Amino acid sequence: MSADTERDTLRKKLPEWVETSRKLSASGKVAQYIPELAGAPAGALGITILGPGPGDLLQAGDVGCRFTMQSISKVFTLLLALMDRGEDGVFAKVGMEPTGDDFNSMLKLELVEPGIPFNPMINAGAITVTSLIEGEDPLTKFDRILAFFRKLSGDPELTYNPRVYKSEALTAHRNRSLAYFLKDNAVLGPDEDVEDILDVYFKHCSIEVDCGHLARLGLVLALDGKDPVDGTQLIPTRYVQIVKTFMFSCGMYNASGEFAIRVGIPAKSGVAGGILAVVPDRYGIGVIGPALNRYGNSTAGVHLLETLSGALDWSLF
Ligand code: DON
Repeated sequence: MSADTERDTLRKKLPEWVETSRKLSASGKVAQYIPELAGAPAGALGITILGPGPGDLLQAGDVGCRFTMQSISKVFTLLLALMDRGEDGVFAKVGMEPTGDDFNSMLKLELVEPGIPFNPMINAGAITVTSLIEGEDPLTKFDRILAFFRKLSGDPELTYNPRVYKSEALTAHRNRSLAYFLKDNAVLGPDEDVEDILDVYFKHCSIEVDCGHLARLGLVLALDGKDPVDGTQLIPTRYVQIVKTFMFSCGMYNASGEFAIRVGIPAKSGVAGGILAVVPDRYGIGVIGPALNRYGNSTAGVHLLETLSGALDWSLF
């Protein structure tokens, strides 16, 4: 399908596809375990699709909805850690394999030797990656992360939501236990303070965006690390290749295999209901739909991406 035909189809059909997928939100549930997320609008669904050309912006549904990135931030903290430490530095501490377990599971940390997290997309892996980001104290680390998000999104005002941050920090018993377990396994080094690392992790999960931000971040990945406006190489291509591969194999947690078959493009979900998806060389996509399935992925959002991929033949295979 030519780029023009695709754009025309999207312009014509996107609002209707959003309304059809929105019905799926009735079968999902808004995340409750971070209390501040529980009030999100369960029936919301919005999508922004952004390409590099003029007029390559298509939106439908509740695109004004603001939400926190949650696990979507893990893609970008991994990029920053790779830029800070290189592949060897990162993969000495975290693996490259999908788990088939829930995103907050600690099962394999004890069952498998060495006890390093299986991949950087699960919570244990992302907490480890956060510890690898350079900065002499937690504030400097977080400032570097935020500056990175601001540069990639083109929004100098981007910041974290202090209510969501505090709400997670006060209730994160599972993440705390994962982090202390990592410390005991010496995955977090002797100089690392567990609470400091968790604090940076909770803050980057709480960075607040809308669908437009996610689409722009996704477009940088679609363009192999280039700034969509001026073409500057913002991230080394090799690191973008690594994170897109992780998104494909682990980005939708233990539903990543099904998503790969039904949709077939790299994507990363978050428990606030966001999904960042990438159509390589073409689009960055941001979706919000706060009602989640049992894997922690937006029910309506996954359905919408499946519809789009089917209609526009987006699968990489
Ligand atoms: O650590 C947590 O549990 C959350 N801050 C993020 C988890 C998440 O988004 C999982 N995604 N589907």
